[in-house]
Amino acid sequence: MTEPGNTPSPTSPPEHAPPEGIAHPRAIRSFVRRAGRTTTGQAKAFAEWGPRFVLPFEPKLLDVEAVFGRRAPIILEIGFGMGEATAHIAALMPDHDFLCCEVHEPGVGALLKRIGEQGLTNIRIVQHDAVEVLERMLPEACLAGVHVFFPDPWHKLRHNKRRLIQPPMVARLVSRLQPGGYIHCATDWEPYAQQMLEVLGAQPLLENTAQAFAARPHYRPLTKFENRGLKLGHGVWDLVFHKR
Ligand SMILES: C[S@@+](CC[C@H](N)C(=O)[O-])C[C@H]1O[C@@H](n2cnc3c(N)ncnc32)[C@H](O)[C@@H]1O
Repeated sequence: MTEPGNTPSPTSPPEHAPPEGIAHPRAIRSFVRRAGRTTTGQAKAFAEWGPRFVLPFEPKLLDVEAVFGRRAPIILEIGFGMGEATAHIAALMPDHDFLCCEVHEPGVGALLKRIGEQGLTNIRIVQHDAVEVLERMLPEACLAGVHVFFPDPWHKLRHNKRRLIQPPMVARLVSRLQPGGYIHCATDWEPYAQQMLEVLGAQPLLENTAQAFAARPHYRPLTKFENRGLKLGHGVWDLVFHKR
């Protein structure tokens, strides 16, 4: 997977003062819009399954039960990439609903393709910045869990501010979690794993389920990307925290 933190980004926030007439600098985003071709199969999946499974971003609170047509625990996934883990987990947990955010269009197409192929009904996708979805669309205490698997590590120090797992974001996530709900993060970048441990550990409403890092929960599959890394001797760190 490409490392956006190492490439110049067309959407990087200005490092200098904003030009006159602009009240606020552009928000710091955790992603860059990567170039990438949507394949014919993904385009077909968009046409066939998009209307049913993709929700528009709207700055108003979502009626989550109406969206899924039932009352079931809802898991938010942030940045599902090509949706490999997402589809696996949704198939494994048919009694849960999955609200999944991704900005990368071919990734959305890829997950729609899996939804169609596997006949999954418990996934809805919002192709938009998860930070805004969280802030504008999700009511307080509506989530049973949050999955953040291999978020962009933003290796360079000057890009660290783009990392998703930071105190304000974690506070927002916690506010949307029900008591007893969980946040599960995984990363293969050790300094980010340490940052996650610090930030999640410092949030008073969260409790670590492990002494430090957790064993990989059974539902999270080893993806192709992760397997490749493991074969090269890279580490992977899971963190699972519960809301008190
Ligand atoms: C390194 S990839 C990991 C993808 C996947 N979770 C996996 O394990 O293979 C991180 C993904 O998060 C997405 N992403 C980053 N920030 C996001 C945000 N704020 N909202 C939605 N998606 C985001 C990126 O587009 C990218 O596809």
